[in-house]
Order: sequence, then structure tokens, then C-alpha cells
Amino acid sequence: MAKLKTVYFCQNCGTQFPKWLGQCTNCGEWNTLVEEVVEKSSTSKNYSGDKKQHIINIIEVNAQEEPRIATPSEELNRVLGGGIVLGSVTLIGGEPGIGKSTLLLQLALKMRKKVFYVSGEESASQIKMRADRLTDLQNPECYLFTETSVDKILHEAKKLKPDFIIIDSIQTLHSSLIESSPGTVSQIRECSGEIIKFAKETSTPVFLVGHITKDGQIAGPKVLEHMVDVVLNFDGDRNHLFRLLRANKNRFGSTAEIGIYEMISQGLKEIKNPSEILITKKFEELSGNAVAVTLEGNRPMLLEIQALVSTAVYGTPQRSSTGFDSKRLNMLLAVLEKRAGFQLGAKDVFLNITGGIKTDDPALDLAVIASILSSNEDFAISEKYCFAGEIGLSGEIRPIPQAEQRISEAEKLGYEKIFVSNLNKIPKRKFGIKIEEVGKIEDFHERLF
Ligand code: TYD
Ligand code: MG
Repeated sequence: MAKLKTVYFCQNCGTQFPKWLGQCTNCGEWNTLVEEVVEKSSTSKNYSGDKKQHIINIIEVNAQEEPRIATPSEELNRVLGGGIVLGSVTLIGGEPGIGKSTLLLQLALKMRKKVFYVSGEESASQIKMRADRLTDLQNPECYLFTETSVDKILHEAKKLKPDFIIIDSIQTLHSSLIESSPGTVSQIRECSGEIIKFAKETSTPVFLVGHITKDGQIAGPKVLEHMVDVVLNFDGDRNHLFRLLRANKNRFGSTAEIGIYEMISQGLKEIKNPSEILITKKFEELSGNAVAVTLEGNRPMLLEIQALVSTAVYGTPQRSSTGFDSKRLNMLLAVLEKRAGFQLGAKDVFLNITGGIKTDDPALDLAVIASILSSNEDFAISEKYCFAGEIGLSGEIRPIPQAEQRISEAEKLGYEKIFVSNLNKIPKRKFGIKIEEVGKIEDFHERLF
């Protein structure tokens, strides 16, 4: 027998309460408790052993590589750690309009597999219209289903036996076992639980789209992220063309990799070599520009840093930065002032990383300093130079991780000289690019100009 039970869930953090309260005692949010009916099965049999399951010593387990389906998208393969693992559930979250549906529809259309595309958000004709825009319809076996009932979806999936399921989005689904409306904590938990069970039982990989809340978290209970195998985050500056796909969690691979896409009128285009696009082709050398060699995951990427240093018009000098931590900028300015004697205290400093990319790689420091010095002295840095180094508080240039990888990327892109820390110990004979090793800011300034 099943018995009905009402509980209250906090819509913010997912904590369960037996009674209504004005404030959630767990996360402190007000008015977030919502009554939900959960069906609780009261059958509990005494466990009397299971013939199939037994305890195994870890030495005896023969681990095999999980079978993977390589997708036609190299960027996606890289982020997933080499392809989609059979029976895995991947959750992909991101701002509205960032391109989650486009990414997955493109995947469905390009795969040479039987794909079951479930949409609770768009009608079949809307999806077809979008598919026509994408113009890479190659898949003769892409089946659409516009439904929000998880029972019906799984029923159809059992009949169709697809190789791959896409569900857009988990927040629109509802299960008949729960009475609350779609998108609530208990519905999301129940629906994703059923989908995950289906995926594991039939070894069908599933992609779920997840909405995010206004502070960037995937909407619904945190437990959703614990339940799925992979959590991807699709983001990027909406005003810029780039979209970055990152793994926040990956049970089958590293979370350090990123995939880079560009939104064009034919959908999302993969960007194989981001550095080429991020660096503007200059016709003349401008002061205040410097190129930094950073790493996103294990992938080296060249970014252009622009600085503008001018005499402050108002009493208090302004410091502003786009794409770079402004506290770090202040620190670098203080180091320049104190350790190298540059008078920047009465100057406005503006800093910008072009391309709308945000990164927190400390190796950017050296390029930031170079661009500030270049703008301050109105002296252009050769466009054949690039920089990778962290600055310490005493003005020393510190070594950076994976220096050789960065150097070979810079060399590949045709740079002639790279400035790095003298503590990096790089075997110079290996590279064609000139490696300029510097130890202190003053030393760096002398060698740069
Ligand atoms: P969409 O995939 O609907 O976003 P999400 O599912 O994450 O909410 O992306 C929609 C945006 O992408 C929309 O604003 C228009 C743009 N877009 C293009 O620029 N080109 C295209 O070919 C497509 C399909 C969409
Ligand atoms: Mg969508």
C-alpha cells in the first residue's frame, strides 16, 4: 500500500521540512518553502540476501575502459573526456539563449545513431525550423517527441530503443507519482531519478538540459548534480560570439578541458584554434597591447590584453578592468609602484581582455604589467612578443605551470619571443622561439624596451 504524505521543501536548497516555516533554517532564504505531496511506499520487506550480488576484492575487479560513443563534435568529445559513455547521464546548464538547445539539436542531427529528442519547451515545428537553419541534417533517424510526462517519455523510449536520448529540459518534466508542479524540487528529483535508472538499465546515454537560477546555479535541488555522471556548463559573454563549454563534474574524465564555440547564423561553430581569433591582426603597432599565453584546462590559449594609462582627471584615480580581477590589478599596480618605482598613483588605469573571455590564470600578470608599462610610456611592444608569468608581491616573476606547452603554442602561432620567469628551467634547445628569462620587474622593464 502506498500512503500519501505532505512535506515542505525549500525551493532554494532542497531541504525537507515536516511543517511550513517562513524562513528556511538551512539556507536562510525567506518564503521558499513549498508544500509538496510525496508518495511514500510503506512496504519494507526483510532483506534475505541476493544471489547475484556479492562482495568482491578490488584486486579481482577487472576494470575495462567504459565503452564510448565518439560524437561528431571534437570540442564536445574533449570536454566529455573522449566521447559519450554508454549509460551515462549528462546535465548541461546555462543561461537562457546561450545555445543549449542548439548544441544538442546539432548533435542529434549530426550523429549517425538513432536519437530520441524530447522537448518540453518547443513544438516539433519550432524544432524543425531550427534544424533547417542549422543545415547539417544528416541523420535519417532523429525522432522528435514533444512531451513533458516522464512516464510517457520513458514508455516511448522503451519502444523506440534509441542509441541516445536528449531531454530539453529537466525542469519541464513531471512524474505522475508526485503531485507538485513541474520544476519543483521533488519533481526534478523524481524525474531525474527515473531517467537515470532508465539510462543505467538500458545503457542508453542521456543528455539533460537544466535551467539555471539567477545566480548561476542549476535550478532545482543540488542533489541533481550529485545524481548525474557529468555536469557541463555552457557559458560565455552573450554580447560576444564565444561560447565556452566546461565540465564542472565528470565521472569519466577531467574537468579541466574546455570546448569553444562561436554562434553564427548556421548554429554553433567549433573553434579549433581559439588563439587565432582572439588576437587581432594589427596593421600598426599600438601602445598598451600585450599578448598573454594562458591555459584553459590543458589547452594553451593566447589572449590580448589592452591597457590604457592616463593622467587622472578627477581627484581619485580610476581603476577599472574587464575580464581581469580588479583586486589583482590593484595589487600589480602597487607592486609596480613600490618595487619598480613607477609613478602610477595619480593615473587612471583601464584594463581589458579582448574577446570577452574571463580567466583567472595568474600567468596573465606579466602581460598585464607589460601592457600597463607600454601604455604608460606610450611605447608599443612588438607584436611578435608574448608573455607568461606570475608576479609576486616583492616584484619577482614567478614560474608558471606547464610552461613548455605554452611556449610551443606561442611558437606554433608564429611569435618570435616569449618572456617567462627565469625559474622555469626550460630546455632552450627544444624551441625555435626565443625564450627571454626574467627575474625581477625592473629587469623585465629594461629588456622589454
Ligand atoms: P538556444 O539554443 O535556444 O538557447 P537555450 O536553449 O540555451 O535557451 O539558443 C538561441 C539563441 O541562439 C538565439 O538567441 C538565437 C541564436 N541562434 C543563432 O544565432 N544561430 C542559429 O543558427 C540558431 C539556431 C540560434
Ligand atoms: Mg532551449
